[in-house]
Amino acid sequence: MKDLMLNVLDPAADGIWESVGTIFTAEGRFDKAPSTDDEWAVVRMHALQLAESGNLLMLPARSSGSPEWIKESQALIDQSNRALKAIEAKNTDALFTIGGDIYDVCTNCHKQFAQQLSRP
Ligand code: HEC
Repeated sequence: MKDLMLNVLDPAADGIWESVGTIFTAEGRFDKAPSTDDEWAVVRMHALQLAESGNLLMLPARSSGSPEWIKESQALIDQSNRALKAIEAKNTDALFTIGGDIYDVCTNCHKQFAQQLSRP
């Protein structure tokens, strides 16, 4: 599980979270978004990986049949598919919002199944 989280889910989610947003520096405010087709293709790859990792989480050996676990895994797939639609439409605002929704799925599951991860 740790391996899957650290090596599959986390890098895929980072790829989405880091693709869009606003950066504040001494020089001012910059909006960050994929601009070339290649950059969009990389974000799309990460969204696909994240959607597939939802399927990996649902495997019986990982879910132990827990309905809550399956619900969170399905939510991850649903949000990743929303991200894919936003990516196909090159809609950076929507992608930013969905990035937040993805984060909520991660924390919801951790609250239930990995309490040791919540920081004070
Ligand atoms: C279906 C439940 C579930 C979902 C959804 C989920 N996680 Fe996790 N995650 C876990 C569990 C359980 C652990 C604890 C694994 C362990 O250490 O045994 C964990 C641990 C982690 C860890 C810490 C690994 C370590 O021990 O160092 C990271 C990082 C992580 N998850 C990232 C994510 C990200 C990013 C997302 C969302 C994109 C996500 N997780 C979604 C269940 C989930």
